[in-house]
Parts: sequence; C-alpha cells; structure tokens
Amino acid sequence: MSETTVLVDYESELERLHKTFKKREVRIRQPRVKSDFPELIVDVPDSWPSIKLAPLYDVHKGSGEHDKTLFERHQNWLVETPNVLTWDGGDLFDNATKESPGASVYFQGGSPTAQFSEAVEAIAPIQHKTLFKIPGNHEDRTLTSSGHDIGKLVSEFLKVPYFPDYCFCVIRWREQKFRLLAHHGTGAAATAGAQRNAARKDIGWAKFDLYWTGHLHQALVDPIYMIDYDQKTDRPVERTAMVMISPSYVKYFGGYAAKKRLAPGSRGLAVAELQEDGRIDVSLHARGERL
Ligand SMILES: [Fe+2]
Ligand SMILES: [Fe+2]
Repeated sequence: MSETTVLVDYESELERLHKTFKKREVRIRQPRVKSDFPELIVDVPDSWPSIKLAPLYDVHKGSGEHDKTLFERHQNWLVETPNVLTWDGGDLFDNATKESPGASVYFQGGSPTAQFSEAVEAIAPIQHKTLFKIPGNHEDRTLTSSGHDIGKLVSEFLKVPYFPDYCFCVIRWREQKFRLLAHHGTGAAATAGAQRNAARKDIGWAKFDLYWTGHLHQALVDPIYMIDYDQKTDRPVERTAMVMISPSYVKYFGGYAAKKRLAPGSRGLAVAELQEDGRIDVSLHARGERL
C-alpha cells in the first residue's frame, strides 16, 4: 500500500479528553426554558456524610508566578477526597496578550493555546466533581481583544455549564437547600476593608447562603448574621451567610502584584463544608514554618 492510501483516524483533543472523564455522583440541572437568571440546581446523594465545596479560583496556569507544586498537591487532594465538589472560578490560565497590563506577556510558561490545553488537562481528573465554569478577567482578555469567549470553550471541553458572569447554584441535599452565588470577582481593592466590602458587594440585592468570589488573590471569610422565614411555619430562623474570597495559586515576588505594591495574599484552596443541620464550616490554612 502506498503512503497516500493510508487512512488515519483523527481523534481530536476534545474526544481524547472526554474519554478520561469519570461518572458524576451528583446531578446537575438547568431549566429547560431560557431563564433570566444564571440558574443551576445540584442534587447531591443523601448518602454523602457532608459536602465539601472546594472551588478553584485564580490558578493562573502559564503565569511565571504559578505555584505548580501547591496546585498539584491540591489537585491530588480533590481527586482523592470523597464528597468534594468544585467549580472553576476563573483566571484558570494567565492568557497574557500583547494588550495585557505589565510585562506578563514576556514571562509566560507557554502560548495561550498551550495554556488552554494544560488548563483543561488539569481539570479533567476532577471533571466529575466540577459543577460549572465562570470566567475571570484573564479568560476575558481573549473576549475583549477578539470577541471569542475562551471561557465558554473551556466549559465545552470540560462538559460543564458555563455562566459568563454570575452563577446562582442551589445545592439540594438531605433536608437542606444551600444557595450559592458565585462570581469571579472584580476591582483592585488593596486594603483589608476595601476587600471585605468588595466581597460583600452582592448582599444588598441577592439572598444567598454563600457569596463566593476570588480575583483579589487574598483569602477572606466573613460570616454575616441573617434571618429567613421557614416557608412552612412562617416563623423566623437563623440563616447566617458566609462571604468568601478564595486565595490564588500565584506567587508574589517578581510578579505584577509586587510591582504594583498590592499586598501578598495566601495561596491555595478555601473549603466550605456543608453539614446536615445547615451549618457551614469553613477552613483556610496559614502556611508556614514556626521556627
Ligand atoms: Fe487572578
Ligand atoms: Fe481575576
């Protein structure tokens, strides 16, 4: 047979990636009719003893300051730990373009195309635990400069629902309904007070149990006392909300944040554990040696 008659079956990157996905334990649903709201409903099996929410915000794959060691450790934790759910909170990859602020375009760990592949490969082992994708300002760089929504493309590769700004997610489990508002976050708040207010920005117009952003590359947990009414008895009940900022996987010195004197923040995951009685327990870690 001559070389010209050899047929080559082409398997796309997308097909190959999808073959690696594991079966979901949770059910993710969106309304069949187009909604005015960015809605998502998640049903978690009652057999789960609790639900750990551990979203990935500001991973910044491809950035010269990406903390690869820490990210891979947490990626393994997400793979191995049962009863964990995550979402991609945006800035999954650095995606520096020639219009990007600072000099980051010169210090990238690969082209935007290579970063895209590396990023979806990183989420693939936890795709079955991933609820949705929202973009950060770094995905939006492509949208801004060319009109292509690369965040949406990430969600298509990962087969997860995509929301271009907010996601309103109700997590139903046992007798509880936990309401989550997720957004990447915005602004450049540099002081502790300004960051707290930035994280609280949506509490005036939306009633949720968790208000979760990232973007500031700082960790924050801010419980806010609230009451709600039991719809069956019309009696008031405590429904304290948790306002969260997830940290990032970006090192500080030598990067854009240090150049701009934005204070260094902690790195890694913030985890909120949802309990059967409606309690929300949050864990963050202060890394370091105490010599
Ligand atoms: Fe970021
Ligand atoms: Fe961001």
